[in-house]
Amino acid sequence: MIKDIIKLAPIALLALSACGGGGTVNNGNAEDRFVDSVVNSLSLKHKIGQLNQVTAVGVEEMEKLAAEGMMGSILNETNLDNLHRIQKAAVDNPPHIPVLISRDVIHGYKTIFPIPLGQAASFDPELVRQGSEISAIEAASDGIRWTFAPMLDIARDPRWGRIAEGYGEDAYLTSVMGAAAVKGYQGDDLSKETSIAACAKHFVGYGAATAGRDYNSTFIPMRLLRNVYLPPFRAAAQAGCATYMSSFNDNDGVPSTGNKLILTDILRNEWKFDGFVVSDWFSVGEMINHGFAADMKDAAEKAINAGLDMDMVANAYKDYLETLVSEGKVSESKITEACKNVVRIKYRLGLFQNPYPTVSQDVKYAPEHLEAALHAAEQSAVMLKNNGALPLKNVKKILLCGPMADAPHDQLGTWVFDGEKSHTITPLAAFKEAGYDVTYVAGLTYSRDSNTSKFAEVTRAAKSADAIIFVGGEESILSGEAHCLSNLNLQGAQSELLETLKKTGKPVVAVIMAGRPLTITDDIKNTDAILYMFHPGTMGGNALVNLVAGKVTPSGKLPASFPKNAGQIPVYYNQNNTGRPASGNEILLDDIPAEAGQTSLGCTSYMLDTGFGPLYPFGYGLSYTEFAFSDFSVNKTEFSGENDEIKVSFTIKNTGNYEGAEVAQLYVRDLVGSITRPIKELKGFKKVYLQKGEQQNVEITVPLSSLKFYGLDDKEILEKGEFEVWIATSSANEDIKWKTKITVK
Ligand code: GLC
Repeated sequence: MIKDIIKLAPIALLALSACGGGGTVNNGNAEDRFVDSVVNSLSLKHKIGQLNQVTAVGVEEMEKLAAEGMMGSILNETNLDNLHRIQKAAVDNPPHIPVLISRDVIHGYKTIFPIPLGQAASFDPELVRQGSEISAIEAASDGIRWTFAPMLDIARDPRWGRIAEGYGEDAYLTSVMGAAAVKGYQGDDLSKETSIAACAKHFVGYGAATAGRDYNSTFIPMRLLRNVYLPPFRAAAQAGCATYMSSFNDNDGVPSTGNKLILTDILRNEWKFDGFVVSDWFSVGEMINHGFAADMKDAAEKAINAGLDMDMVANAYKDYLETLVSEGKVSESKITEACKNVVRIKYRLGLFQNPYPTVSQDVKYAPEHLEAALHAAEQSAVMLKNNGALPLKNVKKILLCGPMADAPHDQLGTWVFDGEKSHTITPLAAFKEAGYDVTYVAGLTYSRDSNTSKFAEVTRAAKSADAIIFVGGEESILSGEAHCLSNLNLQGAQSELLETLKKTGKPVVAVIMAGRPLTITDDIKNTDAILYMFHPGTMGGNALVNLVAGKVTPSGKLPASFPKNAGQIPVYYNQNNTGRPASGNEILLDDIPAEAGQTSLGCTSYMLDTGFGPLYPFGYGLSYTEFAFSDFSVNKTEFSGENDEIKVSFTIKNTGNYEGAEVAQLYVRDLVGSITRPIKELKGFKKVYLQKGEQQNVEITVPLSSLKFYGLDDKEILEKGEFEVWIATSSANEDIKWKTKITVK
């Protein structure tokens, strides 16, 4: 009982005594008792103080806010002395509740990992977990105990710059990677000094911004929300994610920050989430811009009553909640509940016992962290083309060129505040370090550079080279928040440079570092091999050298479909069949005879100038070696009840000349449903690493519950009927290795 609380820490005892004890104490477990005891005895003002997140301002002002108990959390303060002063002010003064220190640690703190879209391409959840764990360890050494990651927004539109921050277009892959990230950040024990609270964001539907323009309205109907956009957030709740962040967008007229349906009815009442929800940056106040709130006071009322617990930097709660309670527009119990949600996470983090950081500064850029980042960059690279130029053979002299070949800042990618470019290993540094005879002529100095005056020098340098490595793509500023593009071709004169390189007659290996799929359709012909590294992070250069040298075989698979051109967007693999499904890929436009008959080109869901299907499909990626699949079997063909399981077994053999890894993907199709269902959906995958000649028996198990969907009455159902089941190495039909039909009885 009370002894549990005394054991917690003097600060908690102090908190209790300072709050005068009192209030009805929940007779639940120690956590409930502690949270109830701390919160029930707070003044209304101090309850509201816990719901206020402040951004870094002058240390005196921050110290004052903390001492007054009006700072539940702070973000973007990284000066350790300031943080100590702030925390001391909070714990030494009533109500003695520690401040929750937060920061965006999206794909690394000091050691920077590939952007999340790149990590998704690894199809290796353990790699994502490990990267998040390392990020947490390094961030915790600077007192950060809460980060705003993983970003779980499904993105089917690469014009949207924030596709870089998520795990791509597929709900299942995003769910698996998101859960892995939560486990990485939070560990098995959130109170461990190196664990930090994760934040599932942006809740919900933010990636469906109309026209791929950031912050734009979304119009996601309930069934699509349930079946595509919500599942990754549900998976995060099941993984124990401590916090959620409401998204900027208004979906079908309701801003997420004031949307009771998602913040309370679904997140709390259906998913039983007991952490807390923070708004996005000033998104409480932005409900005025949306025309959803008349003023800041109205916005505060709408947000708290919808179930938003913490106000990020709008000061709406701090300035108006007390008045709203006195006017009877907001009940104090609502504020009490929100405060308990915040204090509960602080309790789980062990902040009451250990409000100050104890992790050594030595963890930053630790060798094992850099090694993990190297592994992640190697595994995240997707080989899109290779006509034999890779791995490099009998290559001594390399011409290295392109705007990203020595771009230590841009190589890190978007959302990097604390990683230092001085630690970046660029391709130039890595090729030199590896002992290659490298001639470096950038040709272009940054990705948007259109100055072709150096191309002649590139051509001259190519004469003596055995192979050319072009490293292009996009500067980091061109993806991420508020950085959307209507044209996804290579920026500047990069395509012209590739044309120039092609004319030299030397093998051209094109390496693309980007925050999104780019429409490299017209560049392909000017390359002999293409390695897509997304933004690979601190160790990208070493990873590239290991990959092109054949020390590591490319094994990444695309987490998002690559459109042929921006006009084709949205293009994604798990689309519906439509009443007139298209197929084939030929471009009809150039072969249409004059006065062609009205229906002579067929009447299917097709683009005359682009054909059907993406440039590269979801799940696609090449290897240096070959894999043979055999001995397929499925445990049975008739199933019933959601606890049943589909088990597909098979053998994979590495029949080529290099070690490598293949990603076996399991797709299903619900052939007839009470609503139209996608032509295929990823429901399982396994990345299998094999030495040359090695084979492995593999089993992929799919719970029948994963075939459920939300149907006509917004109920999640498992419908009887026939399903097709595939094992494939991409979402494209030509990569199907085996298929069968099963029946749900
Ligand atoms: C930003 C982003 C969000 C981020 C937050 C704090 O506007 O939308 O992803 O975590 O503000 O920096």
